[in-house]
Amino acid sequence: MGGPDQYAQRHLDAEAPYYLASGNEVTIFEQAHQRKLAVMLKGPTGCGKTRFVEHMAWKLGRPLVTVPCHEDLTASDLIGRFLIRNDDTVWQDGPLTRAVREGAICYLDEVVEARQDTIVVLHSLTDYRRFLPVDKTGETLTAAPGFQLVISYNPGYQRMMKDLKPSTRQRFVAMDLDFPSEEHEAQIVHRESGADPATAHALVALAGRLRGLRDHGLAEVPSTRLLVATASLIAGGIPAREACYAAVVSPLSDDATLVDAMRDIVDATFV
Ligand SMILES: Nc1ncnc2c1ncn2[C@@H]1O[C@H](COP(=O)(O)OP(=O)(O)O)[C@@H](O)[C@H]1O
Ligand SMILES: [Mg+2]
Repeated sequence: MGGPDQYAQRHLDAEAPYYLASGNEVTIFEQAHQRKLAVMLKGPTGCGKTRFVEHMAWKLGRPLVTVPCHEDLTASDLIGRFLIRNDDTVWQDGPLTRAVREGAICYLDEVVEARQDTIVVLHSLTDYRRFLPVDKTGETLTAAPGFQLVISYNPGYQRMMKDLKPSTRQRFVAMDLDFPSEEHEAQIVHRESGADPATAHALVALAGRLRGLRDHGLAEVPSTRLLVATASLIAGGIPAREACYAAVVSPLSDDATLVDAMRDIVDATFV
């Protein structure tokens, strides 16, 4: 287990983490924050969910506590536990409890990965009284002003979609994030990687073609994150085709037929 600050992140930077909005998501999030409503971010992996939360936390002047969820995550991992230290028993807040006390934004990334009994502990925090029972210490904490619960999940994974119960879903304002428009995505790729605008545009065009392969068996399509990584390799001097084979094609599939098809598309894009 990591130290108490394992999940803490504060934005002391002078500038907001760069986020290019696609629609009215910034305004909706601000409203939700003001009205103490929890938010659910839906969208494919690598489309900008984490960056959006980082941007909003900075904008709203709140600390951000991020918890990557996984199937072994327990309620105690979130809330806290007693630890033995030098023969003493000391209580250590989990990331959720700390966020509740500090009035931080608590971001549970890929929440559907967590077990149902872990997700259930979030319910009382979405209640209008916003409280967190800490059973092990007998405390009931009321969330400090500024506390906000944000969860994300990828609706593309069918199995998990089923796992988020209606009783949980209905406690959140849901925002659909998707890959940005071509124009926006090219701007993001250029800005994030330092690659020139023409390269950024070509990569976005490539992504558009590859995303079309979803119906031909490509389970995971290239994300904005993948394009940024590829563009960084190109900006670092790797020839475009090689960068695309290594950072776009190979991460997406092991299937020889799909890999060949994707390589052909790369070759046609970067002639
Ligand atoms: N709208 C956006 N504005 C700025 N950068 C973005 C945007 N969307 C994606 N990115 C870039 O893509 C990367 C991956 O986004 P991230 O927020 O980690 O995705 P997610 O959390 O949805 O998996 C970011 O690090 C950033 O470089
Ligand atoms: Mg993320």
